[in-house]
Amino acid sequence: MNLVIFGAPGCGKGTQSERLIDRFGFYHISTGELLRDHIARQTELGIIAEKYISQGHLIPDELMLSIIDVLLDSPEVKDKNIIFDGFPRTVKQAEELEKLLVKRGGNVDAVIGLEVPDGELVERLIKRGKDSGRADDNLDTIKERLEVYHNQTQPLRDFYNERGSYKAINGSQSIDKIADDIAAIISAL
Ligand code: AP5
Ligand code: MG
Repeated sequence: MNLVIFGAPGCGKGTQSERLIDRFGFYHISTGELLRDHIARQTELGIIAEKYISQGHLIPDELMLSIIDVLLDSPEVKDKNIIFDGFPRTVKQAEELEKLLVKRGGNVDAVIGLEVPDGELVERLIKRGKDSGRADDNLDTIKERLEVYHNQTQPLRDFYNERGSYKAINGSQSIDKIADDIAAIISAL
């Protein structure tokens, strides 16, 4: 099974992915975490990614897609149930993900959309910025990330709605209630 956990910055993709790993044993692919790890190690990819992430912009599709292509064939991911967190983020990425999965005999089984109003997202991210110091959790970068989300990522709702795989969830509820709503969707698949 391949799930996409979808939504704006701060909607709870990472938080709910942790719950899904505990409950269903998914392999978690968070493209944001993957890139932050490369930045921390100052790899060639990390040095490139840092420029985009610090401005709240997406890294180029071709770069992101080549990373996913390689990752899907790695021994720790192959044949696992996957939860994609923060990917795909553009229509191009979604189209290419479909091809990558079909080539491997799979598909996107469901896209769980965590829907949260922008004001609440900003509050959450500002708070996390103070607590954890994630470099892109400052007001200017948060605003840019939200702008990028609305322009480039939100159109994917229509893309997956047309395929019947988009499942909207109220992401403003408690973390436990959201986890239960997601579990109900997965159980019905
Ligand atoms: P990424 O790491 O994916 O960041 P993001 O989408 O901005 O989302 P966050 O990780 O900030 O939020 P989240 O939805 O995971 O929420 P969380 O659970 O943490 O991407 C970072 C950057 O990498 C991008 O800007 C881009 O530059 C690059 N990138 C990544 N993927 C890419 C791709 N595919 N293509 C190109 N570039 C890419 O929760 C947030 C906070 O809210 C936490 O403090 C949490 O405790 C709290 N919270 C969670 N749920 C609730 C709740 N129900 N009620 C109250 N508080 C809650
Ligand atoms: Mg996250």
